[in-house]
Amino acid sequence: MKVIWNNEIVERSEVKIDMEDRGYQFADGVYDVVRAYNGKFFTLNEHVDRLFSSAEKIEMALPFTKEELKQLLSKLIQENNIDTGNVYMQLTRGIGIPRNHSYPDSELIPPVFTATTTIVPRDQTKMDQGITAFIVPDMRWLRCDIKSISLLGNIMAKHEAHKKGCDEAILHRDGVVTECSSSNAWMIKNDTIYTHPDGNLILPGITKIMLLKVARKAGIPVKEEVFTIKDLEEADEVFASSTTIEAMPITHINGNPVGQGKRGPVVEKLQQLYVEAVEEQCGQIR
Ligand code: PDD
Repeated sequence: MKVIWNNEIVERSEVKIDMEDRGYQFADGVYDVVRAYNGKFFTLNEHVDRLFSSAEKIEMALPFTKEELKQLLSKLIQENNIDTGNVYMQLTRGIGIPRNHSYPDSELIPPVFTATTTIVPRDQTKMDQGITAFIVPDMRWLRCDIKSISLLGNIMAKHEAHKKGCDEAILHRDGVVTECSSSNAWMIKNDTIYTHPDGNLILPGITKIMLLKVARKAGIPVKEEVFTIKDLEEADEVFASSTTIEAMPITHINGNPVGQGKRGPVVEKLQQLYVEAVEEQCGQIR
């Protein structure tokens, strides 16, 4: 399998990452995940912009321009024959010897960029049937807007959910729902869609932007407003969104059914609208 290592496409076995890379020692780095359908990227510009923005927020610079990165990524999926799948890209601050919490001088220490591909077909059955979720306190830091590779708070929450036999963790701070462990959280009440406003407490999801756009265009009322765990209990529909799961119905929370305990009509409509948006960029996917 081919991967990107700094600004080259190489065989995966050729990559050498130093054990004192600050990504490995401090989780000092950022990442992004972009999806391709039919061998074409969906919302590539938005993902590349967010990667550059995450890097800027921790005073890191990428070793290439946005255009150069987009060309490299397109070449990568071509070489790996990715039809429908994901690209994971990561930027770390590079080697820091001796270990020292302060950022090293970026002029002396080059950052390390890597990208890998995975074939991931759309799981239509799951999108029809939905997933289950468990509510977990949001124990993460206060810069969740940065797509940091430091994900202990997220993975611990997901693990709690898995231990309860659920697929995803819905996170809350003092009863206010922020997002899920690896997706944005949404609720529908009386035909209005609610999701947490962007800011430092959630990741500004690209899928979220797209869903807001298609919903508003279709005249579905949308409110970027906070909602609580109690609101969730009384919601008509709940769903999660991300690049990999699109708009995924959540049918049960903490073992209790949401609404009828199956995918509701508003989520189904949003899924259709999202597919239309994907098809505009990538061609027919059904
Ligand atoms: N996760 N919130 C969190 C905490 C996430 O990790 C993600 C995505 C999202 C949704 O963002 P987007 O719509 O841009 O994918 C929200 C990716 C897919 C991951 O970590 O693999």
